[in-house]
Amino acid sequence: MQWQDAVVYQIYPRSFQDSDGDGVGDLRGIASRLGELAALGVDAVWLSPMYPSPLADGGYDITDFTGVDPRLGTLDQLTELIAEAHRQGMQLLLDLVPNHTSIEHPWFREHPDRYVWADEPQNNWRAAFGGTAWTQDGPGGRWYLHSFYPEQPDLDWRNPAVVAAMQDVVRTWLGRGVDGFRLDALDCLGKHPDLLDDPPASAPPPFPEPPEAAALERVHSRNWIPALRPALAALREAAGDAFLVGEVYRPTDQLGPYLESLTCAFVFELLFSEWRADAIGSVLERAARAGGPAWMLSNHDFGRVGTRIGEQNLRAAAMLLHTLPGPVFLYQGDEIGLLEGPGGDPPHDRFDRDRARHPMQWDAGPQGGFTTGTPWLPSVDPAARNVADQRADPGSLWSFHRDLIALRHELCGDLRVVAAGPDGRLAYRRGDLLVTLNLGAGTLALPDGEVLVRTHAGAGLGPGTGAIVRRAD
Ligand code: GLC
Repeated sequence: MQWQDAVVYQIYPRSFQDSDGDGVGDLRGIASRLGELAALGVDAVWLSPMYPSPLADGGYDITDFTGVDPRLGTLDQLTELIAEAHRQGMQLLLDLVPNHTSIEHPWFREHPDRYVWADEPQNNWRAAFGGTAWTQDGPGGRWYLHSFYPEQPDLDWRNPAVVAAMQDVVRTWLGRGVDGFRLDALDCLGKHPDLLDDPPASAPPPFPEPPEAAALERVHSRNWIPALRPALAALREAAGDAFLVGEVYRPTDQLGPYLESLTCAFVFELLFSEWRADAIGSVLERAARAGGPAWMLSNHDFGRVGTRIGEQNLRAAAMLLHTLPGPVFLYQGDEIGLLEGPGGDPPHDRFDRDRARHPMQWDAGPQGGFTTGTPWLPSVDPAARNVADQRADPGSLWSFHRDLIALRHELCGDLRVVAAGPDGRLAYRRGDLLVTLNLGAGTLALPDGEVLVRTHAGAGLGPGTGAIVRRAD
């Protein structure tokens, strides 16, 4: 398999498929649905964290980097899942969280030197979810640093024992057959060694941040390249030539030092782009200049593409995604146009991300076939959209994704933007194919050439439509 044109399917394990009726998705459930993913044509799956966790941050607060959450299954079941994915022609990626552990990880008490401590809050750094990045370890205790929730103390990558331990984690999983990793929150690994204050911001942040964090230019708490380079090099050394995709919450023009060690990094600009031809055209050009793009339109943090851009644009969005050069990440449920739901009541996530984590909808039955019990988050609308109905309908969004994925594997060549204009036309070339999308409000002429795929039938290209044609010129 070539990673360059791979489609990676993101599984949020707790919401994918429950096999034992406890209302929480699990590894056996995932294994039972791999055939659905093979039918869609995906090349790999990425599992969001399935490690033991007190779930202060949806599993991104880990108490054992080489274990499996007993609520989700056993290590044997995971090994079997890896083998089954391979049998069905898919690779399997895990989520590696090198920046922090759960506060309940044994290291926090047994190896406090692996964390970042101070006698009092040492600087003005802010946590990603708001508030100070320093919390006191009990009354009279010292203060520890956390880039995310207080339940997620940051590891100190200045300590060689941390580097060695994380390398061991990587080697352990590769030894168990895993094919690579999605690396979480990587810009946080690069901290100024003297923990200097972040200066006030001179411009709005490139991507959404809570207001207090947005008021600072995060040049010392994150993305401090001299500290980052050796950390990434150590992860790469342990990973050998395995696939590594980085979650780096920075614009593409800052990804160079990361790409020295990673296979690719997510293009957050695409996810946050306005749905306009000029805006997306410029994202595509910038990402092409940066190299190493990994594309996504949704994930478990930032909401659903259909809710963001409107259901009427979902077929054009699918055409865009699957015709981009570089691995494409498809978040579970996007293939059927799942929208955001109401979230949990009371909420599970304190940062309002439940709405993007509602269960998969496999069929029109109660709870969409996700569970026979009470789901940990309610189903959104299984009767209106589900995999079974859409698989049976050649005109459905699911079928459209399948067709585009099949075509994707024939696409080659760099991407060259040829139009990104105020009329809404976004057009780009991949070899002899021309992709044209109408992101505007008018109707555009269908381009000349042999039509290979269209989002919708009709005389021209109306709003939210697109076509792929083959051209000789
Ligand atoms: C990443 C994950 C997010 C998590 C955070 C801290 O951004 O995608 O879900 O909260 O890292 O681990």
